[in-house]
Amino acid sequence: MFANPAILRNESRLPHTVEVTLTAAKQRIALVSGKVADVYAYNGMIPGPTIEIREGDHVIIHFHNELPQATSVHWHGLHIPADQDGSPLYPVQPGKSHDYIFTIQHGTAGTYWYHPHPDMTTGYQVARGLYGALIVRADDDPLPASLTDRVIILSDNRFRPDGSVDTPDEASQAGLIDEENGREGNTFFLSGHVMPTIGIRSGEVQRWRIINASAARVYRLSLGGASFTQVGSDGGLFEHPVEMKEIVLSNSERVEILVRGTGAPGSSTTLQSLPYDRYPPQTRPAGWDKAIDLATLKYSNEPPVAQVQLPLTLRVIPVLDTLKATATRYFSLGQGIINGKTMDMNRVDTRVRLGATEIWQIENVVGMDHPFHLHGFRFQIIDRNGVPEKDRRWKDTVNVPKHEVIRFIVKYDDFPGKWMYHCHILDHEDHGMMGILEVK
Ligand code: C2O
Ligand code: CU
Ligand code: CU
Repeated sequence: MFANPAILRNESRLPHTVEVTLTAAKQRIALVSGKVADVYAYNGMIPGPTIEIREGDHVIIHFHNELPQATSVHWHGLHIPADQDGSPLYPVQPGKSHDYIFTIQHGTAGTYWYHPHPDMTTGYQVARGLYGALIVRADDDPLPASLTDRVIILSDNRFRPDGSVDTPDEASQAGLIDEENGREGNTFFLSGHVMPTIGIRSGEVQRWRIINASAARVYRLSLGGASFTQVGSDGGLFEHPVEMKEIVLSNSERVEILVRGTGAPGSSTTLQSLPYDRYPPQTRPAGWDKAIDLATLKYSNEPPVAQVQLPLTLRVIPVLDTLKATATRYFSLGQGIINGKTMDMNRVDTRVRLGATEIWQIENVVGMDHPFHLHGFRFQIIDRNGVPEKDRRWKDTVNVPKHEVIRFIVKYDDFPGKWMYHCHILDHEDHGMMGILEVK
């Protein structure tokens, strides 16, 4: 049976304050078929506990690093000060602690996640189990509070016969393929559950928040061909719901969908990931063209419930006006490089002015997809290969398919400092497919 990850206990009694403790440590946990493995976990769980926050909250996270190596906690997608972002510029050494302190702005409710972001070892630490959800709720959420809210964190992993996490030697054949494709696994977890059953009642509507926490795998989600309603993505709700039959979700992207229980009592459907060809031809894995079963959606035998009323307008998303843009920044994505370079922690690649609105043009010049992520600032996609984006949405990650060009608009409205942008295939990021933006 599927269950949401546990919610991290708020230790504060003060209003609009969330104060929690998060510890990363070595752990022995059976992830598959009862075989105990050495893993890394937040507060002893994989995924880590869900951090629940409301818009406007003051957040204090007491983080302790009990790992044998340096780490950091990055709050993927949050608009917070640069020195609280947990980027590779702010490592927490083994045995040390750090308090992450920030305030959540209004208008940013949505589904986010947290993960380690140390220089060159992010993929390793995430593969060992370090990832968790962070949900920001709004007081004026337009969707009925009665909907069952599911937090589904997608993750794939690979294990050796003894049950240990298979992170290969970099110089081995498997290591070289992982470096090229990004590491994929053949065991699929939904918030830690393998092929779980998700219960639903006929007629019921459920709100699913889906996070792609995989290192490299892109999911193309389908519910047996049935349509569902997409209501949000990275930066929260859309202006209007959109009917979908499948959703492509690249690494670190999130979606919110409403699953309407259109099936008959007692029936079931399979949540699948359909084939998606993000690979370069020379390393395209065998079996990439087969659908993957992720979960069973199982209807109870109870008679159908009456339909709830769903709003047709969700919220208003402010327009970032392209006429106000004062510059266009060009980024070419090569294999493992951005604008021909690998990451240098002591170099600033892009300098911008605080308060400016700019256009970023991201061109993928190679034959594999690269999901591009900007820290700290959410953006709106203008066009893809010159085709204007239909709807206004807040994003922080966008998949740039092979040989395609995407433009987005961003406003650096706050928070001077140094920010990362990178490919979110963790193997690419760790090998330097990252750059630094300085806002001042
Ligand atoms: Cu999930 Cu640098 O980010
Ligand atoms: Cu990020
Ligand atoms: Cu990449």
